[in-house]
Amino acid sequence: MRILSGIQPSGRLHIGNYFGAIRQHLQLQAQNEAFYFMASYHALTTIRDPDEMRALTLDVAMDYLALGLDPERTALFTQQDVPEVTELAWILSCVTPMGLLERAVSYKEKVAQGLMANHGLFAYPVLQAADILIYGSHLVPVGQDQKQHIEITRDIAAKFNAQFGDILVIPDAYILESTAVVPGVDGRKMSKSYGNDIGMFEEGKALKKKVMGIVTDSAGVEDPKDPEQSTPFLLLRLMASPEETEEWAARYRAGGMGYGEVKGRVLELLDETFGPFRDRRHALEADPDLVRAVLRDGGRRARRVAHGMMQQVREAVGLPISYDPPD
Ligand code: TRP
Repeated sequence: MRILSGIQPSGRLHIGNYFGAIRQHLQLQAQNEAFYFMASYHALTTIRDPDEMRALTLDVAMDYLALGLDPERTALFTQQDVPEVTELAWILSCVTPMGLLERAVSYKEKVAQGLMANHGLFAYPVLQAADILIYGSHLVPVGQDQKQHIEITRDIAAKFNAQFGDILVIPDAYILESTAVVPGVDGRKMSKSYGNDIGMFEEGKALKKKVMGIVTDSAGVEDPKDPEQSTPFLLLRLMASPEETEEWAARYRAGGMGYGEVKGRVLELLDETFGPFRDRRHALEADPDLVRAVLRDGGRRARRVAHGMMQQVREAVGLPISYDPPD
């Protein structure tokens, strides 16, 4: 199956992103033909600084490569390397009823948060539909918050096909179940906007300080404790084996164990789990040209597929291009 997903470049990723979504993106590469891209045109609805845009885009690419994206199997690219998506977005706009976009909650939420109500933000779901449909994608792995965008994509594709013939593949959403809620250092859901996140590539003293500062209740060492209510335990469980997790749960309930001890183990597990990724990321940081070469190759592969689809779409709507494109 062809898998596709877009990633909004929005700064350093945290371990909640990893256990929630990225790990599953990477698992899907094994059995499928995957296309993952940095949704830079979408980011342009909110990011205004070109240097920031460039840096964030490269950052996400490095993150995915460090975490195990295999560029031989999977096309990793930036959205602007396939400019035909904007052409398709226009064509799709012409079969998209206003009401469909007016019902989109993400637009309303973003405006309520204070973002400028620009047309790009409003038309965002049409561009997302173009991203998905231009590659004939079958499955789109996304978080729950993107479910409506995939439904809009299906609606738009069906409208296009009804009008112009059966050309677009109607994709399915693959909603990533976030493997349990990942709590942040203050016990609330881990989120960059709460400032309670543990970065995936944090290390050394800074990481230690964060882990040792995880908020716990005031139970004494001797008191029995409830593991399910305890942030260090919930983090440990994401990384430890089931046997080890069970041992810690038993020690919580028995009493005689202090939080400092379990935090120490969380720190070790973070180093074991993310250490190899950090090393790979350092190597990529030292060689940004390699990252650019991966993106160039991914962009070429993606554009080839998009080009084939656009030929059919242009023919179907009666707008063939009258000369061979320059290469
Ligand atoms: N809107 C998605 C998000 O905010 C990013 C995105 C853009 C996307 N185009 C896509 C996701 C196409 C899946 C498919 O996360």
